[in-house]
Amino acid sequence: MNLLSDEALELSGVVANCRMNRERSLTGSNGYSKELGFNPLDLLRSRLRTSRSVNWLDLCCGTGSALIEASQQIASEGLENVVHMDGIDLVDFFSKISPDVHCLQLTAASVTNWEPERHYDLITCIHGLHYVGDKLRLISRATSWLKDDGEFHANLDLDNLKFQGRKLRSQTVSGMLQQQGVIHEARKKRLRCVGSRTIAFPLRYLGADDEAGPNYTGQPAVNSHYELTESR
Ligand SMILES: C[S@@+](CC[C@H](N)C(=O)[O-])C[C@H]1O[C@@H](n2cnc3c(N)ncnc32)[C@H](O)[C@@H]1O
Repeated sequence: MNLLSDEALELSGVVANCRMNRERSLTGSNGYSKELGFNPLDLLRSRLRTSRSVNWLDLCCGTGSALIEASQQIASEGLENVVHMDGIDLVDFFSKISPDVHCLQLTAASVTNWEPERHYDLITCIHGLHYVGDKLRLISRATSWLKDDGEFHANLDLDNLKFQGRKLRSQTVSGMLQQQGVIHEARKKRLRCVGSRTIAFPLRYLGADDEAGPNYTGQPAVNSHYELTESR
């Protein structure tokens, strides 16, 4: 199998797929709240009761619609000086931010090499990991960017993780994540991690397969191939 580097993957039609849903709003039936099981704004507001300022990072934010909606609400509540939001996406296809909103920054960059300038109360990656090459490295990086009690939430199909020459049961893979403090909810295919941490998976990344076909979302996704560096 011909595995792709990050650079080659980012040029692939699977990642540039125009049929992808990049426009989720904050709430509603096609919204982040439904995907996450909570409204990100509620989390930010509740943390403002004990913190002077709060930050939200949305990885693979698509058009940034959910962040834009949230930032408008934050501005209308007069909380712009205490809330900061960052959105990162490979494709510079962002919706327009109203000129009077100053708490949101949308950046066109790859999440594989983008570096943050702050720690976050909330980091989300809604249906973005499906298209990333080294998914486990992004999970490790994101959890290291959390504040001590910050939360990371993402969608992940464990079938998109492949272990060269080994057929690992999904319970084994979710156990590997759990050992590092990352919980995978099998039914909803959702990842959750609370609290900043340094993760070291016993794996070496080999490359990405963009011909994996559709995953549970129905859209073509990317398989990430690893080699185990210790026996299990
Ligand atoms: C299915 S869309 C989801 C967008 C948004 N989270 C939403 O729910 O509306 C996946 C997004 O991941 C982005 N993406 C894929 N690989 C990426 C990478 N390496 N770095 C940044 N964004 C990436 C794509 O450009 C796309 O906008």
